[in-house]
Amino acid sequence: MKRCLGVCYYPEQWPRGNWVKDAQGMKMAGISRVRIAEFAWAKIEPEPYTYNFDWLDEIIDIIGNEKLKIILGTPTAAPPRWMIDLYPDMLPVNQLGLPRQFGSRRHYCFSHERFIQHCEGLVQIMAKRYGRNPYLCAWQIDNEYGCHDTLLSYSSSALKGYQEWLEERFSVDMAKDKDPIKILNKAWGNDFWSMNYERFDQIGFPINCVTEPNPAHSLSFLEYCSQKVIEFNRRQASKIREHSSFPITHNFMGKITDFDHFKVGQDLDFASWDSYPLGFLEDRISAKNSVKEAFSRQGDPDFQAFHHDLYRAVGDGRWWVMEQQPGSVNWAPYNPMPLQGMVRLWTWEAFAHGAEVVSFFRWRQSKSAQEQLHGGLLSPTGKRMPVLNEIEKVAEEIELAPEIEIGQAQIGIIFDYPANNYWKIQPHGDGNSYFDLVFDFYRCLRKLGQSIDFISPNDEDLDGYKLLVVPGTMFIDEKLVEKIKCFSHTVLIGPRAGCRDQNFNFESFNSFFPDFDLNVLVSETFRVNTPIALSTEGYFIRYRELVETSNKILAETEFGDPALIGNGRIQYIAGWPDETALRSILLKIFEEEQLTPIVMPEGIRERRNINERFFFNYNSFEVDFEGFKIPPAGVVRQIIK
Ligand code: GAL
Repeated sequence: MKRCLGVCYYPEQWPRGNWVKDAQGMKMAGISRVRIAEFAWAKIEPEPYTYNFDWLDEIIDIIGNEKLKIILGTPTAAPPRWMIDLYPDMLPVNQLGLPRQFGSRRHYCFSHERFIQHCEGLVQIMAKRYGRNPYLCAWQIDNEYGCHDTLLSYSSSALKGYQEWLEERFSVDMAKDKDPIKILNKAWGNDFWSMNYERFDQIGFPINCVTEPNPAHSLSFLEYCSQKVIEFNRRQASKIREHSSFPITHNFMGKITDFDHFKVGQDLDFASWDSYPLGFLEDRISAKNSVKEAFSRQGDPDFQAFHHDLYRAVGDGRWWVMEQQPGSVNWAPYNPMPLQGMVRLWTWEAFAHGAEVVSFFRWRQSKSAQEQLHGGLLSPTGKRMPVLNEIEKVAEEIELAPEIEIGQAQIGIIFDYPANNYWKIQPHGDGNSYFDLVFDFYRCLRKLGQSIDFISPNDEDLDGYKLLVVPGTMFIDEKLVEKIKCFSHTVLIGPRAGCRDQNFNFESFNSFFPDFDLNVLVSETFRVNTPIALSTEGYFIRYRELVETSNKILAETEFGDPALIGNGRIQYIAGWPDETALRSILLKIFEEEQLTPIVMPEGIRERRNINERFFFNYNSFEVDFEGFKIPPAGVVRQIIK
């Protein structure tokens, strides 16, 4: 498939007189996809149930006449001011019980039924009007679910919805003679501290308790909130599908893991995500200052690829970058401009991982309001930014380049969104997170030159992988247990995997895998600077378990306790390994599975597809590697037919 470039455009923010010139400019830059309207609700429906599509018809024609294709956004992330008068209780409510105010975006509660119905009405009208417009190529629903901490709302509609959801959940499949509330009390262990309930309408939000709430209570609320996002998305998608067969996407975010993206993905035709490498490095990545300084204008060498691989799985193979950082952003602690060459590198890296489109955010830096300091391809006065040269170069390169054929990787990592909630609720130590654990495994594998597939716990097929990695999945779904049991190569599992049930109660690993004798007696967390040495190489950092087992002990801690336990194809790691420890464990497995490690130089990463290898140089200096002189911020593509 031919890859292509796109851009995000906000015609509602610019005079009509600019539109034709803007569309022509995009075309000349080699851009062929334009996303519009995802925040334009007030222009489309200036008063309740009164619609103005003249401007949208016109801009769609202008863009289409330039032979550019449009991704039309449903504008539900930016409800207009009149809507708050119509539905005053639609605003999301914070932990203190205060409504979050109008004046930016995403000011809606996912549980507010009348707001959702209003969204459905608007989406239906848009889908009827544009559903077969030949200038469209896709729909985007809403914008970045969960952005600005908007997943959780403590509104009265959320409380009612949550209570009803709990009641339904604890009534399903239960013996008729049992009272669902008693079942909930038992499942949550509510005899502890006399926390029993008599009725579902007594259950509040798991916040503002005197000390921490029951983790089972917190877990269930997060599950409810995740479910609401899935439903919100599904309801819009089904309205679109009544009138349109263009594919539907949503633009997900980096390091947002608190709702189940795989489940949202089931209602989409492809996934997309918004990639801001420099903003993420400063704002979302736990790394030493020295690393942040070395890569301040390049971004973390693994963070983008991690999400490319993850969203490839969420989109079941089909995905885009819907927003690509092209200049400095406005929202991180520091906001440098990218090193020359990096925008090209990020774009090619996305293509190498399978992106169909990379779309830049935004065409023109805005003149007013919140994102004034966010770079675009044009300055606020309409002048070309130097990055346009890089983008034009990529556009030419895509034209000439051979197609990219994405193959299956040899290594798969299970990414389990619910597991993230378990870790979030009970990190047991400062800074312990599911995301960081999985990221450590991913980074270590990439530094060994490996290409990786993320796998949903619900994926049917594990055939073709030589190594399956399952870090930190506290509750392992029955189906995944079965698949692991049937997998014919090595599975590296743990730490903190298979240790809880669906209500946060302890479970033993044995109850998931009866043939693998392992009992976690206790777990501990400790400061990163007080690691525990392993008999092989490296250390456990942050977290480890004291386990009892009759299986083979492949490595021990400095205290003589089992650290790596093996039985047949399954290996269990009883702590959070540092890079050295993990590398030595993986190298051993590589040997057994005949996987070839390539030790990557600092800042160089490889992506391997069916007939080719790409090398990416995240450094600000040239690197000699595998016979190539890879320039700073440079990309090398090697065909290996
Ligand atoms: C994204 C968002 C865009 C814009 C951008 C700025 O998270 O989808 O609308 O705000 O950030 O970096």
